[in-house]
Amino acid sequence: MQGPNMARGFFITLEGGEGSGKSTQARLLVERLCAEGRDVLLTREPGGTPLGERIREIILSSRPSADAEFLLFSAARAEHVASKISPALAGGRWVVCDRYLDSTRVYQGDLAGIDAGLLRTVEQHVVRTARPNLTLILDLPPETGRARATARGALNRYDAEQMAYHERIREGFLAIATTEPQRCTVIDASRDAEAVAHDVWQAVASRFALPTG
Ligand SMILES: Nc1ncnc2c1ncn2[C@@H]1O[C@H](COP(=O)(O)OP(=O)(O)OP(=O)(O)O)[C@@H](O)[C@H]1O
Ligand SMILES: [Mg+2]
Repeated sequence: MQGPNMARGFFITLEGGEGSGKSTQARLLVERLCAEGRDVLLTREPGGTPLGERIREIILSSRPSADAEFLLFSAARAEHVASKISPALAGGRWVVCDRYLDSTRVYQGDLAGIDAGLLRTVEQHVVRTARPNLTLILDLPPETGRARATARGALNRYDAEQMAYHERIREGFLAIATTEPQRCTVIDASRDAEAVAHDVWQAVASRFALPTG
């Protein structure tokens, strides 16, 4: 499908702690982009491919060592990039991904202690040119995220961690936003979904010159 003159699509990722509204906002953003006539792939990590979804189940149901968990997430991402994300971008589609490389930097790097140099080497090898053009960091107090996730249903083993752990996750994402301000936009995700979606759209529209109304 890809012609030599076909413009590459844009790649947007949503990041943030548990219950911050990533999946909700990803869905709303895709609806809005489609309404603007864009061809969009909505996907998520870990998962996004049949192999990735199986790896996701293994990670959530087992307690792999930190190294094994990092490599499993990276394997799922390699498959996701090669079979879905890169082909979509090359074909001119937009891609919206619910969690991506920043989650690995925070959960496996900051929290689980995977060496930063190793993490970057593997990240570069796995993502290659599939780098996000825009990353929306949904920020809210961890207590608020926990209350939402609890109201939604059973907590997974990351959700169930202590508040100090969730506070470190929040700080990890905010530190990335500070380091890479040209890629990352922090969104106040503590408000109702409609208000958050408004700010998400403002960020996307201004970044990609789309209508803001
Ligand atoms: N702005 C909001 N205000 C109140 N509740 C919300 C808001 N956004 C989402 N919710 C609800 O909170 C719960 C968590 O939202 P969602 O699943 O979108 O978060 P998430 O970041 O994808 O969570 P996870 O990290 O567990 O995947 C859902 O039940 C959702 O309907
Ligand atoms: Mg989600």
